[in-house]
Amino acid sequence: MSLSTAPPILAADQNRTAGTAHRRRVAVAAVELAKRLGWAAAQQSELQRLAEAHEHRERARESPAELTEMLELCCFFVQRWEYMPYEMVSFEQIMEELKGLARDGFFSQRYVEGLAVMPTVRLDQIEQIVARLPVFPAVALKAIEIARNPLASASRVEEIVTSDPVLAGEILRTANSPLFSPVAEIRTLRQAVSYMGIQACCRVLAAAAFRPMFQSPLVRPLWNHSLEVARLAEGLARRTHGTNPEEAFLSGLLHDVGRLALWKLPAHLASRYEFLLSQGCEPMFAETLLCGFDHAAAGARVVRHWCLPEAFEKAVAYHHQPERCPDPLPSLLYLAEHLSSSQEDLPSLARLAIACEKMSLSREQLDDFQVLAPLQVVE
Ligand SMILES: [Fe+2]
Ligand SMILES: [Fe+2]
Repeated sequence: MSLSTAPPILAADQNRTAGTAHRRRVAVAAVELAKRLGWAAAQQSELQRLAEAHEHRERARESPAELTEMLELCCFFVQRWEYMPYEMVSFEQIMEELKGLARDGFFSQRYVEGLAVMPTVRLDQIEQIVARLPVFPAVALKAIEIARNPLASASRVEEIVTSDPVLAGEILRTANSPLFSPVAEIRTLRQAVSYMGIQACCRVLAAAAFRPMFQSPLVRPLWNHSLEVARLAEGLARRTHGTNPEEAFLSGLLHDVGRLALWKLPAHLASRYEFLLSQGCEPMFAETLLCGFDHAAAGARVVRHWCLPEAFEKAVAYHHQPERCPDPLPSLLYLAEHLSSSQEDLPSLARLAIACEKMSLSREQLDDFQVLAPLQVVE
């Protein structure tokens, strides 16, 4: 599909936002490239100013040729990135295309090379970061296994709960919480498991076991967001067909685990990442620009490293690109991310349409969606 015939990414009322986001991305990419090439600070500022005003075409005659050339390249690069949902290309393919255009004389070879070497972390290097993450909690793993097994018995859940006094307390607290509102106080684990049900217990167990990974104040908001997406995904799974609500909840808990890994990037990269975000660049673009991959790809590595079921790996890998996976879970997570308003990526009408279609949900139903009874699992 050519750029000129592609449908709009955003509705008309969102064009202003999309235009602003595009200009911001061009500015961020251009300044990043200029830094790489050792350009002076004054040139970087001018690049930023021209990109934000999107004046590189209008001002082509007045601006120095190298600035115009660089902005043309970055504008093209950003457009290709923005049209990924339509064209099914990867970051590497975009780079190959740019190199071909540079060979044909459309762009400066030096600038394209600068852009191509921009990623400073290779995806396989993320393995080293993943290896430094805490191991996936055994209790959460057992809870996931039970939640996915329709024949699982309550005694198996009890066995797990009794092995850990903290989890036992968590289950009793939840069973007596206003959400479950028992008529009389529940005092034993057997009563709690039978009253709450196996699946609800597994959700509480998985969340309680996984939560300590998000203990530091820096990643605490990520835990709250993961919990929100987990609840939304579960609610959507109950409203639609084709996905197991427990699996949806657990994949929601895991969906952004790649961000946990990216927070462990070397300090100089982490500060550049923070800088890009502070410039209004959304995380998915900032990650691609800096690393050549995003938190979804990093998260899939983490999930594989933890030996979790393949369904979770795919759900995490494609939760921002549902068009790339035939499974329904990535679409469900995409919609849950959308409802959470986390703004990790440019909202795409194309992806929303694809995800809604896969879940047999109309846009109106999605917009009206509310979690009627949010599950209060381990805040
Ligand atoms: Fe997210
Ligand atoms: Fe995400």
